[in-house]
Amino acid sequence: MPIRPATTDAIADAAAALREGRLVAFPTETVYGLGADATNARAVAAIFEAKGRPRFNPLIAHVADAEDAARFAVMEPAARALAEAFWPGALTLVLKKQPDCPIADLATAGLDTVALRVPSHPIARALIRAAGRPIAAPSANRSGHVSPTTAAHVEADLGDKVVMILDDGPCAIGVESTVVDVSGPEPMLLRAGGVTRAAIEAVLRAPLAAHLDDNDRPVSPGQLASHYAPRATVRLDAATARPGEAFLAFGPNATKSDGPMINLSPSGDLIEAAANLFAALRALDASGTTTIAVMPIPETGLGEAINDRLRRAAVR
Ligand code: TXA
Ligand code: MG
Repeated sequence: MPIRPATTDAIADAAAALREGRLVAFPTETVYGLGADATNARAVAAIFEAKGRPRFNPLIAHVADAEDAARFAVMEPAARALAEAFWPGALTLVLKKQPDCPIADLATAGLDTVALRVPSHPIARALIRAAGRPIAAPSANRSGHVSPTTAAHVEADLGDKVVMILDDGPCAIGVESTVVDVSGPEPMLLRAGGVTRAAIEAVLRAPLAAHLDDNDRPVSPGQLASHYAPRATVRLDAATARPGEAFLAFGPNATKSDGPMINLSPSGDLIEAAANLFAALRALDASGTTTIAVMPIPETGLGEAINDRLRRAAVR
């Protein structure tokens, strides 16, 4: 029975489960979140697996307060002003990562930026504090379904994927947080949400550049120029690496290579492969190679999202 009233005991159990790398659903003031330890790449991979997401969108890391946020990301003056005005609350800030930021590459989809939010919901805040680490959490629904605003919604979608659903009744706001990118020269609205554009512009004392489509939806992060792409050319469906190529392998049948080589999962486990994907691309890219040869990866489970990312890295 995964639904538990959010008592002190239940929060302590949920925090322990998060530290062990398990998934826990929890209430926030916007929608229920599907939480994992943001510093644990395998736990973050399990989020994508549970949601059945065909893509690795970067996730929001939920932190306890603005001081914690500053440990993980650079808080420029505009970010500080928005944090001061709207945290804790329904605002997510996209910020430049600190060099030693422990948040997993998979949680940020390999970007140099990270989305942080300090939720105001007392249960969410207690859980973050008890876990003692940032919690990555998208809305706790299966991909393509509407966001959940009650524990029962979460159970219907993900009851078999989480160790616990902390129940504290319906969410007060009911739509996701507003996402503002403050990592560049001018703040940009990436997603409309719980905090209005007008309220944000009043604090910034300037109009907010927007990155929304015609229906006020965010432009897919895959289309954002900032989306991580390796510098090297990516060659897909490679059985082996050619001389001079770096090799991104998968599974037990990988042939050895003379150049730099990383096997995403020697046992052929797609969750492990997803957890390693962005860090592996970065490492092979950093080797200075001109081409990264990539072994075929099955198009099942998380393989779909892995292949989506690799295909987009290859078409540039
Ligand atoms: O209200 C909410 O925000 C809920 C609750 C659970 O907190 N969470 C949520 O998370 O909606 P998620 O992961 O579904 O939404 C994350 C949004 C997406 O639009 C994503 O593209 C954007 O934030 N995002 C995350 N990291 C980003 C980054 N580094 N650069 C640009 N956009 C980013
Ligand atoms: Mg969602």
